[in-house]
Amino acid sequence: MNEKYASLFEDLTLPNGVTLKNRFVLAPMTHYASNPDGTISDQELSYIAQRSKDIGMVITAASNVSDSGKAFPGQPSVAHDTDIPGLKKQADAIKAEGAKAIIQLHHGGREAVAELVPNGDIVAPSSVEKEGTVTPRALETAEIEQIIADFGEATRRAIEAGFDGVEIHGANGYIIQQFFSPFSNRREDEWGERLRFPLAVIDTVKKAVEKHGSKDFIIGYRFSPEEPETPGLTMKETFELVDALVEQPLDYLHVSLMDFHSKARRGADTNAKRIDLLQERINGRIPLIGVGSLYSAEDVSAAKATGVPLIALGREMLIDPEFATKLKEGREDEIIRLIDPAREDHHGIPEQLWKIILQMKGWVPTKAE
Ligand SMILES: Cc1cc2nc3c(=O)[nH]c(=O)nc-3n(C[C@H](O)[C@H](O)[C@H](O)COP(=O)(O)O)c2cc1C
Repeated sequence: MNEKYASLFEDLTLPNGVTLKNRFVLAPMTHYASNPDGTISDQELSYIAQRSKDIGMVITAASNVSDSGKAFPGQPSVAHDTDIPGLKKQADAIKAEGAKAIIQLHHGGREAVAELVPNGDIVAPSSVEKEGTVTPRALETAEIEQIIADFGEATRRAIEAGFDGVEIHGANGYIIQQFFSPFSNRREDEWGERLRFPLAVIDTVKKAVEKHGSKDFIIGYRFSPEEPETPGLTMKETFELVDALVEQPLDYLHVSLMDFHSKARRGADTNAKRIDLLQERINGRIPLIGVGSLYSAEDVSAAKATGVPLIALGREMLIDPEFATKLKEGREDEIIRLIDPAREDHHGIPEQLWKIILQMKGWVPTKAE
């Protein structure tokens, strides 16, 4: 291994005492490859196993905790006990490669897909219109409580399936972010207190771990730092969220960014990088995962040099599942940085995701045909 990359292969102990063997994280990626009923398919098992080698922590695709939250065809489900046998195979496939297995817990809220949820009933904190989407129905109080309980039940299933932890998906505009956002949460009852829902989910997950799991079960939380809408989340709200999250029994925070080095849009110094602002605010109180458009050894090395303790790779791990292995073995010049549409094995990417990648040109860096 080139000494330059040695710090990426140092271990890291999380607040709960669990040690990750290195600083690489597989970013959660929806793959449209679970069975139609949400159970785990053979296709996704080989896909995830291939991407777990020499990675410290593997986060699975967003997995819906309630039927009403399903937001993608082929989305994995963690909403039923009948999902557990498949989830167990998934956790085993990841752990067999020596990585910690983390399942991402998700509810789409207003982003759920009418054809995929019971009675086409799209629910959200408030009935707010947004161009190009179905206007959701505002949740009743009892329904909010049920969804929170669903996160707890999903955690129990993750424990029974043998996962090492869960990541609460509070990012990318899904239900947890919808409750935190002044754009999508216009409620006037107690659930209009925008931190209430995220904190209630964390509390319920924690209680499920106390009841069914052990103290080395990992709980992470992913958030998006800003929203384009006005009103919408800015760095100012995100700092408030981070201040609240560091007080919670969490083991890591995970910022969702498409570009690791992107700058703040609103609510902070717009010349500063979000990752630096967040690191400054967190001030070592909890490990942070950074992510976004890192495709080469130099890219990850520069990202690590910002001081962020953990680095997630998404698209690069679709392109080259051996990224970390090659770096570890001093073969960084062999790292592949482009999808090759002519490759017969489709890089091991499940069929439906492969089709989408080829259709959505520019989304994942691809060789010109
Ligand atoms: C195919 C694909 C699916 C994704 N699915 C999820 C998901 O299920 N949950 C999530 O939090 N982020 C998801 N993301 C976002 C990634 O986790 C990551 O934040 C983003 O792609 C930027 O990192 P990258 O440049 O290394 O890909 C997805 C991204 C891609 C490319």
